Amino acid sequence: PFTPMVDPDCDNVAGNFAFAFDIDGVLVRGGKPIPEAIEAMKVLNGENEYGIKVPYIFLTNGGGKFESERCADLSRQLDMTVSEGQFICGHTPMRELSSRYRDCSVLVVGGEGETCRLVAESYGFHDVITPGDILKVNASTAPFRRLTPAEHAASRDLLFSRRHCRPEVRKLSDIVISAVFVFADSRDWASDLQIILDIAQSRGGRLETRSETFDEGPPIYFSHSDVVWSAAHEHVRLGMGALRKMVETVFEETTGGKKLVTHAFGKPQVGTFEFAERLLRQWRAEKHGLGLGTLHGRSQGPKTVYFVGDTPESDIKGTNAMDEKSGREGTEWYSILVKTGVYQEGTEPRYRPKKLVGNVLDAVHHGIRREM
Ligand code: G3P
Ligand code: MG
Repeated sequence: PFTPMVDPDCDNVAGNFAFAFDIDGVLVRGGKPIPEAIEAMKVLNGENEYGIKVPYIFLTNGGGKFESERCADLSRQLDMTVSEGQFICGHTPMRELSSRYRDCSVLVVGGEGETCRLVAESYGFHDVITPGDILKVNASTAPFRRLTPAEHAASRDLLFSRRHCRPEVRKLSDIVISAVFVFADSRDWASDLQIILDIAQSRGGRLETRSETFDEGPPIYFSHSDVVWSAAHEHVRLGMGALRKMVETVFEETTGGKKLVTHAFGKPQVGTFEFAERLLRQWRAEKHGLGLGTLHGRSQGPKTVYFVGDTPESDIKGTNAMDEKSGREGTEWYSILVKTGVYQEGTEPRYRPKKLVGNVLDAVHHGIRREM
């Protein structure tokens, strides 16, 4: 049931505009807050010359944890409370695919330990298999990978049927993978690459088989396509998009030139920004009591959303595309690029933002000044 948590200070909330933030390279870098980020949040929470509160949400391509854990991390880093109702990570939209694969086996790749399996199960996927499960049954799948004792213990026994709760003489080739989901960054690129390629080249997703035509593998979804991202190192680090390119390139190389089409969620996909706009409408209504009960029973959105990001290829490309799609009648999506992450000062960004600023605090001041 809808329980509005209307802000008691409702009159002092900006109804016309809102902010959405990328996280890595904008608010946080290598697990530590970017100094101006804490101040920027205070400004949005009302510590500004107008005394207004501005609604905001977070939209990161990162993942590998439950949304609630990511919110707890961010709350600690930014010294404030971040709610799940204002947070989207790379794999959040994958939740919507769980009903399609409810009764199927899916492979979930990436992240620390068993966390991504648990996240996928919480989304409604019922039979979640990981690369570790496959390696446990057949270690020769990846000749140079040895599961640690802890990984071995945590991996599922695939030859045991959970459905019937009793051991079955089952071979890996009895298992059909209906889709592959890369939830978070791989912790062992070589074995994950091998296992994803094996499934892409299988007969209809059946483990340990080889297709003759190489065109019958299941769909492969990545939670985003960032080739690089901004972490603790002074130079950008390789991200999930690099693994995606490796999967596609090596597939072509090992199949005599067949093309593999994979799918990506996250930014810059317009669908992800649409998902974010829906969340923002809901958050404005629930938290601030804004735009309630208007058009077709749907809460109304703000006139402008300022999106603050550090990666031209995902943040700026996606924001500009969303703005174009919204057209004149819809919400304006206004892209702001900062210099604290992937984008390097003095270079020409591949996708031009509406505004280039130094850091997230400058971005917040720019948006507020433009509105007031
Ligand atoms: O793995 C995370 C990274 O690719 C980007 O995160 O917050 O910059 O969208 P973010
Ligand atoms: Mg970023």
